[in-house]
Amino acid sequence: MADNRLTPDEALQQEFNRWADAGEGPKMEQHHLDITMKTLRLMDLRPGERVLDLGCGSGWATRLLARLVSDGPEGFGQVVGIDIADEMIRQARAASRDFENILYVQGAAAKLPWEENFFDKVLSVESFYYYPDQDRALMELFRVMAPRARLFILINLYKDNAYSLQWVDKLKVPVHVRSAAEYAELLKSHAFQQVEWRQIPDDTPTPDDYKTKSFNSLDDLRAFKKAGALLLMASKPDLRTPAPGYTIY
Ligand SMILES: C[S@@+](CC[C@H](N)C(=O)[O-])C[C@H]1O[C@@H](n2cnc3c(N)ncnc32)[C@H](O)[C@@H]1O
Repeated sequence: MADNRLTPDEALQQEFNRWADAGEGPKMEQHHLDITMKTLRLMDLRPGERVLDLGCGSGWATRLLARLVSDGPEGFGQVVGIDIADEMIRQARAASRDFENILYVQGAAAKLPWEENFFDKVLSVESFYYYPDQDRALMELFRVMAPRARLFILINLYKDNAYSLQWVDKLKVPVHVRSAAEYAELLKSHAFQQVEWRQIPDDTPTPDDYKTKSFNSLDDLRAFKKAGALLLMASKPDLRTPAPGYTIY
């Protein structure tokens, strides 16, 4: 039962620590890998870039990012994984000992423990709809992103994929349920530019003997994967370059 004395962030921390203790962190890789690989291709990652993985869980995607931005002619890229659940962070650190360009930090999306204008790219996989204050999270993302940095948010639970709505009552923490158009408006209201979205199907086959507790049937699970995840993409404006016609005194 939910403990009403906890703040929303403390409730999330407790719930996702429980997921981590139950071994769910690494298991999420098999559910999110296909849509994440398709997103990584769109991110056009370059060696030397600084990347944030927000809601990194056990860090499997953080490690993929770290390989893509590591040593190259433009320098040694860094990846920072941030997650509210300290047990996820502990597991992510343990699994990433071979990486010199990853740092994991425990923290909430509403108060990112990082400096401003830092990241060139941000990835967030299946995490954003849990954030109690999504406005606050977007303000924080805008702050830590460098001018012209690109934001990539993958969301599996959203209005336009009707099959995903089956989860809402099964989850033990509250979630936001918005449409793609509503998310796009939200991003624009926070001054993000080049806001676009697309649906990313999950092409992983579902075996006939697959057991699911999240969906009412395997047909629903297959239809959910076919409709796919919502990928939101946006840029922080280049605040260093004044718009034509403006004079800086
Ligand atoms: C469904 S899991 C996805 C984890 C990982 N991205 C993956 O795909 O395996 C959601 C993650 O978001 C984190 N999370 C939830 N709310 C958060 C918040 N307010 N701030 C930071 N992380 C949060 C959780 O602790 C959890 O690790």
